[in-house]
Amino acid sequence: MQGKMTWESPSNIALVKYWGKYGDQLPQNPSLSMTLHKALTTTSIHYSNNYNQEEVKLSFLFDDQPNADFEKRLFHYLVRLTDRYPLISRLRLEVSSRNTFPHSSGIASSASAFSALALGLLSVIEEVSGEKRNTDSFFQEASNLARMGSGSASRSVYGGYVVWGKTDGFPKYSNSTAHPVTTAIHPVFQEMHDSILIVNAATKKVGSSAGHGLMNTNPFAKVRYQQAEQHVIEMHQVLTNGDLERFIQIVEQEALTLHALMMASQPGYLLLEGGTLAIIDRVKQFRNDTKIPLCFTLDAGPNVHLLYPASYKAEIDDLIKRELLLFCTSNHFLDDGIGHGPTKVTNQG
Ligand code: PMV
Repeated sequence: MQGKMTWESPSNIALVKYWGKYGDQLPQNPSLSMTLHKALTTTSIHYSNNYNQEEVKLSFLFDDQPNADFEKRLFHYLVRLTDRYPLISRLRLEVSSRNTFPHSSGIASSASAFSALALGLLSVIEEVSGEKRNTDSFFQEASNLARMGSGSASRSVYGGYVVWGKTDGFPKYSNSTAHPVTTAIHPVFQEMHDSILIVNAATKKVGSSAGHGLMNTNPFAKVRYQQAEQHVIEMHQVLTNGDLERFIQIVEQEALTLHALMMASQPGYLLLEGGTLAIIDRVKQFRNDTKIPLCFTLDAGPNVHLLYPASYKAEIDDLIKRELLLFCTSNHFLDDGIGHGPTKVTNQG
């Protein structure tokens, strides 16, 4: 048996950050993200089933080129998944992946990469085993498999606002899979924009795995995990009541806390750069002067995400071009916004 599966899956930006993990990539605190629209990974898996083989066979292309590092990471991931799905070891897989955003643009590609991969892999597993899940169970399991590759990827299998991690008062939420936020979303949050300012596109000095690890000895860890849970709970109310002021406070506090935790790790480290700080300063000044509800957030790196309601796009574009692009590498920024989640590509070309 052979065939091909292709999925397209977006990246996401955490409003409440996941930072710290335990066990098999389970989060120490719940996180809440907004799924993006344009920053996508498309992954095709050509598969065949070989009953005489005992270990998965894999070849991997990124942008049509072999990539030994990614292939190795993917191979180990597949081997880990054979405990759950023994049939993986009988598969011969040719995986081919590409991003819509430039490679090393500073966008966290692991969320879109592992969600596209997990969705594709689960489609292959269903096809080969002949055991089909219903839609809910398919996406829950894809989220679970994506999580094992990269924690934040668990959230990218859903569109809109998504929570991953046990949260007081929300019995459905779990540490193993993400869930879409199903409370009503105020219109102002249904059309959020995200302009991503690339301050530095280079690979991070300290990767997120090492960063999560350092939370185990961080003296502020316990209180941080409680704060994140409170923020996730409160963010549900904010998303429903449209309170932009509180949204801004939570989102910016989350971004700065993430980096404060890095600085307070043992050993401490710093991923913010001069350009990051200059942009943050100007965003605050602009908000003060114009009363336009623009805020910033950060990933585990120096690049800045600007979040704002779609109706202010012209003013923010103007601000970026006038005052912020000079802090960006090769005058680079990516225009994105809230998205609907992954899609299965049915035209296999
Ligand atoms: O999924 P990871 O292991 O790359 O961790 C992501 C961590 C942050 O991007 C900083 C926060 C988050 O919740 O996405």
